[in-house]
Amino acid sequence: MAFTGAGISVESGIPPFRGPGGIWSIYDPEKFEKGYFKRHPEEVWPLLKKIFYDSFGRAKPNAAHLALAELEQADKLAGIVTQNIDSLHQAAGSQVVHEYHGSTRRMQCMQCRTYFDADAISLDTLPPRCPSCGGLLKPDFVFFGEGVASDVHYAATDLAKQSDVCLVIGTGGQVVPAGRIPYIVKNRGGVIIEINLSDTGYTYTTSDYFLEGKAGAMVSKLVRCVLG
Ligand code: APR
Repeated sequence: MAFTGAGISVESGIPPFRGPGGIWSIYDPEKFEKGYFKRHPEEVWPLLKKIFYDSFGRAKPNAAHLALAELEQADKLAGIVTQNIDSLHQAAGSQVVHEYHGSTRRMQCMQCRTYFDADAISLDTLPPRCPSCGGLLKPDFVFFGEGVASDVHYAATDLAKQSDVCLVIGTGGQVVPAGRIPYIVKNRGGVIIEINLSDTGYTYTTSDYFLEGKAGAMVSKLVRCVLG
């Protein structure tokens, strides 16, 4: 399996959350707390549009996303658990992708709970309203103070329990419960191969191999080694 974070999408033009140029060094994460959003949607929605819709919309999968899709097609990768909400794994052709923190592809009405395809909702006037009941729409990704969808959590942990190798790509594992996924593989005797620009909380405690470098080049090289 692969466990991916924001670092795998940086070469697609999507900034990470932490580290140099990180989203949380520009925007206050408090604004993306569920309670704050419910109280101040007219303030938060323009930020959501700017960060997650205007720029994400143009992003394309990079060599790392494409290499993981190739590994799955060759039956060498059972699936991906991603913390990312950019849908770039699916765009690269990956079939089994558990989006642990949800996705920008969908929105949900906070009144009638109906889901909508984000492409069907105009962001010309903010905050966007539910076409059915006029309620406030929220992107279908996990805000701070919000729980992870239990069906995704169970599917992700089941995949980890069945995996003998976990590629940990572009994440510092600082957010739980997502960050615990590699430990599930490790604690069952699995091998952890970490790909990152610099060492993380996993590197000296959990990773069996640390491939230091950009995800695009390192994942492609790894896949070439496996598939020839
Ligand atoms: N190649 C490989 N790794 C990279 C690259 C790159 N080109 N660029 C950055 N990285 C690494 C950084 O070194 C860092 O370890 O990617 C990681 C990015 O860390 P974060 O921005 O914290 O991203 P992530 O770990 O996915 O954050 C987890 O935090 O804010 C929440 O919900 C949000 O899903 C996110 C979660």
